[in-house]
Amino acid sequence: MKPRVYIETFGCQMNVADSERAATGLRESGYDLCDSADIADIVLLNTCSVRERAEHKVYTRIGEVRAARPNDRNLMVGVMGCVAQLEGETLFDNSSGIDMVVGTRATDRLPVLIERVREGEKKVIDLGERDEGQEAWNVSPVERHSPHVAFIPIIEGCNKFCSFCIVPYSRGRERSRPVSEIIDEVNKLLSLGYKEVHLIGQNVNSYRPRIEAGLEQFPGATPFCRLLRAVAATGMPRIKFTTSFPRDFHPDIVTAIEENPNLCNWIHLPVQSGSDRVLKLMRRGHKRDDYLKRIEHIKNSSRRLALTSDIIVGFPGETDEDFQQTLDLVRQCEYDSIYIFKYSKRAGTPAAKLPDTAPDAVMKSRFLELESVQKHSQRRIYDSYVGRTLSVLVERNSSRSHNDLVGHSTCHKVVNFPGESHLEGEIVDVLVTQAKTNSLYGKLVNRSSVA
Ligand code: SAH
Ligand code: F3S
Repeated sequence: MKPRVYIETFGCQMNVADSERAATGLRESGYDLCDSADIADIVLLNTCSVRERAEHKVYTRIGEVRAARPNDRNLMVGVMGCVAQLEGETLFDNSSGIDMVVGTRATDRLPVLIERVREGEKKVIDLGERDEGQEAWNVSPVERHSPHVAFIPIIEGCNKFCSFCIVPYSRGRERSRPVSEIIDEVNKLLSLGYKEVHLIGQNVNSYRPRIEAGLEQFPGATPFCRLLRAVAATGMPRIKFTTSFPRDFHPDIVTAIEENPNLCNWIHLPVQSGSDRVLKLMRRGHKRDDYLKRIEHIKNSSRRLALTSDIIVGFPGETDEDFQQTLDLVRQCEYDSIYIFKYSKRAGTPAAKLPDTAPDAVMKSRFLELESVQKHSQRRIYDSYVGRTLSVLVERNSSRSHNDLVGHSTCHKVVNFPGESHLEGEIVDVLVTQAKTNSLYGKLVNRSSVA
């Protein structure tokens, strides 16, 4: 029997995409993939280090995996992803349950590394760079997280070095994927029946491939704008993209969306703070007004574009006055939803050296206050969808109610509605009848799609 590998993924979409790549490579090398640690010979944890809590989870999880099979000497445990890249050797010191550490650019070499552990080598570690020109980006459909929605990395790494963020250290410098590979992947997914792709990257606006062949015939203010038009031209029914960095967010992105119905009505544009003073300490490279100008442009679009954001509360030195400016900005932007993060000190980042980290109680109360301000505008936005018909890609049966299906709208709202499972994978029109806190409820009106 082939050895079975179980990959558990924490963190962002990039990690999900990396796990899919890793699984593809492992299966090609003669391993079987399974969906539970209990029956696996090899457990790989694909980790996230963006906040301290995410990082601690790794140790807890290794403890659990080992405790479930205390006498199983053949069980192999590997740590991959951002924690592996950052912690390296120290992971072996902190936990005796780890056999292997695989950095963020060593995914392609996993089969060789596993082999080394199986041959008896102790503490196998690879924090090296990718093998230039040999990167295996291909993902087999069986390894994708969904048969209907696919993540396509277009750029890896980040050059922005926001002062709080560990990503430039864990994922390294930006590397853009060649256009032809991206377009080939979209076309392949189309022929397999995929209905939606997400072009993903830490900062998709920075997309700048060394080889631009394939973009010549597409106009656009930046390579990313041209890529959007090129991907739209494939005819993939729905195209979404994350994450956009405010300073690099060119208004032509909105024009590209307006020109192409298959570019979806959703923009994720993290602001982090509403205070210029804090934005400067964060080294974000944008001011409040620059950001608001971009928001105004998005709101003035002929398409109704949903808008989401990330915000950090309790950044070192954030005063009540700074925080009030964040509240004010959130009211003004009327986001469809936001992710709120309590600031988490990451060793090695410039912000870690800043004084005056907010006490837990302040952090908590700011978190709750921001959440309640957002809830208020979110209610109004969600209520405004009642009576409207949305185009929904049906992704699966709802876990809450057996009679309901669940999917996302082009404006990236979760939409539930009663329906039969044969509709899974189809794009349908749903009339919204009810707005919940973080989702919409409706009824099927027909099966033909509108953008
Ligand atoms: N541009 C990236 C951002 C990665 S981190 C992307 O979306 O791919 C995602 C979010 O985590 C950031 O936007 C930020 O709001 C939050 N975050 C990052 N570092 C953090 C830290 N040290 N403490 C709290 N939140 C953090
Ligand atoms: Fe992090 Fe800023 Fe890049 S939040 S991922 S350093 S854009």
